[in-house]
Amino acid sequence: MSLHRRTFVLGGATTPFIGKKHPDFVWKGHPDFGKRDNPTLEDYVRLAVNGALEATGTPAEAVQKGWIGNFVGELFSKQGHLGAAMVGANPGLQNKPMFRVEAACASGGLAFASAVESIQAGTDVALACGVEVQTTESARTGGDYLARASHYARQRGIDDFTFPALFALRTRAYREKFGVTEEDIGHVAVKAYANANRNPNAHMRSVKMDLATASAASDKNPCFLSNAELSPYMKMSDCSQVSDGGTAIVVVSEEGLRRLGKTPADAIEVVTVSHATGNLWQDGDPTVLSTTAAAAAGAFADSGTKAGEVGVCEVHDCFTVTELLMMEAIGFAAPGQAAAMVREGRTQITGDLPINTGGGLVGFGHPVGATGVKQVLEIWRQMKGACGDYQVTNAPSLGLTANMGGDDKTVVVSLFRNA
Ligand code: CAA
Repeated sequence: MSLHRRTFVLGGATTPFIGKKHPDFVWKGHPDFGKRDNPTLEDYVRLAVNGALEATGTPAEAVQKGWIGNFVGELFSKQGHLGAAMVGANPGLQNKPMFRVEAACASGGLAFASAVESIQAGTDVALACGVEVQTTESARTGGDYLARASHYARQRGIDDFTFPALFALRTRAYREKFGVTEEDIGHVAVKAYANANRNPNAHMRSVKMDLATASAASDKNPCFLSNAELSPYMKMSDCSQVSDGGTAIVVVSEEGLRRLGKTPADAIEVVTVSHATGNLWQDGDPTVLSTTAAAAAGAFADSGTKAGEVGVCEVHDCFTVTELLMMEAIGFAAPGQAAAMVREGRTQITGDLPINTGGGLVGFGHPVGATGVKQVLEIWRQMKGACGDYQVTNAPSLGLTANMGGDDKTVVVSLFRNA
């Protein structure tokens, strides 16, 4: 998308992402079990929306339009119609136009892209929110719900855990084609958990992961698929988390900044948003994310920038292999070479291309509809020096987010400059 009106992200707020293994998440064995409940979908919308308005000093009355990304509220929470849930978060939003958008795990990216498009069309102050609750069911039932992001009739039967199995298939193909080892991929998990351990909002903030554990199946880190051919290619540590959470950001024009008494120094500028969609009914080469590559190529072409200029990055690591495939699709590494960059430490917080500094989907967690919005907030936080213990030190001038829905079917790649 070529932006003819300057567009800024003024910041926002996220709830912690929580689920099993997070100290605040109540489930069997937790000392609070039976005494208090975990937050609901309604709670997460309210917390994210009001958190973002407060953090950016935006009165609700100043918001002109809003978008909410959510995949399957109807299944996990028996609740749809979430545009109206945004209004329910704050009386100042009463009667304003609100839209719910859905593109599986790219729902949040699409909410952001829609807010940016609306700024192009004349809106000055927009709200983009993402939310998902997934812990109301077991991970196995959740696997069935999430499988609706695949071609259900064709792919559901691959395993009860359809998406872990689809990415086990990619892992097998990638390892066989390029000679990548289990330990190479283990480095991605170790980085994700180490970053999450520095991030108070991360689902896995108190779970440690060392290279030996991440590099081989064990009782502590089992392979869990029933599909015998694919099972060796997917351990628990390779998976994003079944998390609950919500994130919201405020997106404005130059006039919107002025109206809110802000300057570009408070914001990051959106350079471009590139949205590509693949064919849900057909798959291509499992060692390539071709829709991601198309979205990234579009972003660089629209903006006249190059992958080499990116200094901080959030990519959709729904599984460890996805982070490597994303790096190659975006152009950070040649095919088969991403693992070497990770092994050399280049993608760590202290590296020249920090990737998923707050832990990514594996460490920070993956409430699917929230993820794309959270990625944008993370770039704002890194560029504004707001990341505390996981702050990068390379003062990035160009940031990138890549949010993926389904198995590389909907992809939103966005670029940002520190205004
Ligand atoms: N050996 C074999 N199987 C084992 C095992 C072992 N040692 N330990 C556990 N398992 C099996 C169990 O059978 C269990 O199933 P049941 O509960 O039915 O018995 C299953 O693994 C889950 O085990 P747990 O309940 O202990 O684990 P969990 O609840 O922590 O879940 C996870 C772990 C299955 C990896 C879960 O975190 C998960 O599903 N992660 C992936 C989430 C996902 O797919 N998100 C979407 C990503 S795709 C995307 O982003 C794009 C999109 O549009 C969808």
